Amino acid sequence: MQLRHFLDICDLDTASLRRILDNAAQLKAALRDGQRTAQSQIAAGLALTMIFEKPSTRTRVSFDLAMRQLGGETLTLSHDELQLGRGETIADTARVLSRYADVMMLRTGDHDHLSELARHATIPVINGLTDRSHPCQVMADILTFEEHLGSISGRKVAWVGDGNNVARSWMHAAARFGIKLRLATPAAYAPDRQTLDWARANGGAILLSEDPAEAVEGADCVLTDTWVSMGDADAESRRKSLAPYQVTDALMARAAPGAIFMHCLPAHRGEEVTGEVIDGPRSVVWDEAENRLHVQKAILAWCLYRAD
Ligand code: CP
Ligand code: NVA
Repeated sequence: MQLRHFLDICDLDTASLRRILDNAAQLKAALRDGQRTAQSQIAAGLALTMIFEKPSTRTRVSFDLAMRQLGGETLTLSHDELQLGRGETIADTARVLSRYADVMMLRTGDHDHLSELARHATIPVINGLTDRSHPCQVMADILTFEEHLGSISGRKVAWVGDGNNVARSWMHAAARFGIKLRLATPAAYAPDRQTLDWARANGGAILLSEDPAEAVEGADCVLTDTWVSMGDADAESRRKSLAPYQVTDALMARAAPGAIFMHCLPAHRGEEVTGEVIDGPRSVVWDEAENRLHVQKAILAWCLYRAD
């Protein structure tokens, strides 16, 4: 059986991504209806190992509880407490952990570490965020969009701010789900040309702009993220260049009536978004955070062949 890694949205076809989202919605409904016992059979007897090279609240807690609610066990490890921190290779770590666990998740500052882990693992590997992408987050974002506004296909989504890892996963999603994605970033923090070329070559309708008003005009959803991601060294120059990209009520007023606001969190009120927007009526950030749990379950079930 072919290993099912969940490394990037661009690696999966639309049908597989859609099945994961449908399953997440079903698992969410079942949990709400109190069907915990049925869920607890899905990963019974299986174990998830998570390695964190960077901090995390949502990814860590939602994966941990997702696996437990599916009946499985979890082990959370920080890079520094493993021999990895003392120079053991990623390849050897992958081989060894594959003998103990059934699925692995890695959060790392270097996407190549994830690729290396997946190359040598004999169990599925999940991307829990890298410097390049954050696919689990964007799957939860799409579930949230569709709960509030219906199918995302053909809809306008605006990304305002840093062309970072989360933005890159949105570009992959634009191609796979037929989203009209408009990114407004300063030139210095625009997404990379390779991702843009891939997304456009695969049917992603992507507009790149330096003007937040242009990107947000008529959008169904406005997204932003921190200006200084974990591992970014140039905090001061980022804050300076990104200051005109703050999501404010005035900017949201340009979006479509009924438009929603999303942010993967953690947020910095007064920087990338005002308190009025993130704590206001258009914000769905708490649904978005909750949906990490339901989507992680569906990703785990897919990786473990416990779903179609
Ligand atoms: N959104 C997200 O991945 O949050 P954490 O860094 O808390 O996991
Ligand atoms: N872009 C942010 C996302 C945090 C969830 C970072 O990489 O720090």
